[in-house]
Amino acid sequence: MNVYDSERMSEALGEDGYEETLNPSEADMILLNTCHIREKAAEKVYSELGRFKDLKTLKPSLKIGVTGCVAQAEGDEIIKRQPLVDLIVGPQSYHNIADLAANAVDGKKQVDIAFPEEDKFSVLKGKRSAQRGPSAFLTVQEGCDKFCAFCVVPYTRGAENSRPVIRIIDEAKQLVQSGVKEITLLGQNVNAYHGDGPDGNEWSLAKLIWELEKIDGLDRIRFTTSHPNDMTPDLIEAHGQCKKLMPYLHLPVQSGSNKILKRMNRSHDAESYVSLISKIRDARPDILISGDFIVGFPEETENDFNDTMSLIKEIEYGQAFSFKYSTRPGTPAAERDQVPEEVKTARLHQLQDLIKQQQKSIQDKMVGREVQVLFERTGRFDNQLVGKSEYLHAVNVTDPTISVGELKQVKIMKSNANSLSGSLSN
Ligand code: 5AD
Ligand code: SF4
Repeated sequence: MNVYDSERMSEALGEDGYEETLNPSEADMILLNTCHIREKAAEKVYSELGRFKDLKTLKPSLKIGVTGCVAQAEGDEIIKRQPLVDLIVGPQSYHNIADLAANAVDGKKQVDIAFPEEDKFSVLKGKRSAQRGPSAFLTVQEGCDKFCAFCVVPYTRGAENSRPVIRIIDEAKQLVQSGVKEITLLGQNVNAYHGDGPDGNEWSLAKLIWELEKIDGLDRIRFTTSHPNDMTPDLIEAHGQCKKLMPYLHLPVQSGSNKILKRMNRSHDAESYVSLISKIRDARPDILISGDFIVGFPEETENDFNDTMSLIKEIEYGQAFSFKYSTRPGTPAAERDQVPEEVKTARLHQLQDLIKQQQKSIQDKMVGREVQVLFERTGRFDNQLVGKSEYLHAVNVTDPTISVGELKQVKIMKSNANSLSGSLSN
């Protein structure tokens, strides 16, 4: 979502005469778009900011801004800790950046971390384009009302809010007209989507997907990230029926221990998750399942951790993200009995070894199969292109006849460490 937000900020600032540069020494303004989900991400902000000190000395008019969830969570504390920062802008105030930047002169610091009534997307300037390739993100929903005991999202991104269907369709059409073939719908709780539909009713994510499917030139639809409790029957059915909806689902479970899930305030248990995955696989047998896991959540015992390992063995993940629990100030779990760091590290290694095996074995099974690949960029070698299969596996093909942005049928010949190689099917 930060990638998407950064694109939107850059496009909106483009309307005010700014031009994007990837070279900091060329910049008149540097925006650091930040993540607060774990302590490591939040701390990185200060080391990154430190790196801009020399640039600011060389060019005192250089404006430095911190945007995103660290800005939201820490506000002007950031300026106290790092006085070179000129503006602090929370995730709901991106549409104000140009004005804030204009006012950030003569040492006047600008801070905007309000949760305004108006929807920033409806006032954000700029046209969407395929500037970054044939696959694009599109935020449809933001914020979360679930309040998992470890998570800062409900505090930094605010309450769950869905964008109206018409705006999403309009944005998708802009993207497709400029050459985008694949759209990933984004939201912290994307499957809780319930935006206003053109018929006056609230639309579910499944209904939105069916509407997007009608757009000519849009070939692939994905969405992330989902919560098990919002995996409604219409969405499961869409996975079986909707041709453009790709067979890949990121459905975090976080833990396999019912005791821990309860303490996490997840409101689902391991058994309901397993039966949900089985329903989804009934609808779309080849779907690749991905997940998120937290190890070392407060009070997690060896038995609890083993329950997580058993659940992973039962599900068989094609992909997963796993993290050591990170204490986040202000969240309920921060106050509880913490698991020692070395125990967290050992559990993370064990879990990641298992996931790696599963991931590799699912990837290896692709050899000999024909998949559809959307080519996103050129590779390291002459005439090599890199794209993604329906299952989100990276696929390399060396063939001078292919161009970036094309969709092709590819026969998979080889499974490498983190990618597949193949050649065009006849
Ligand atoms: N510590 C570790 N991981 C976390 N996540 C969210 N909050 C924390 C935390 N405090 C993980 C969850 C979530 C993913 C986006 O980040 O697994 O699904
Ligand atoms: Fe955070 Fe996801 Fe839980 Fe919401 S559902 S509180 S975003 S982990």
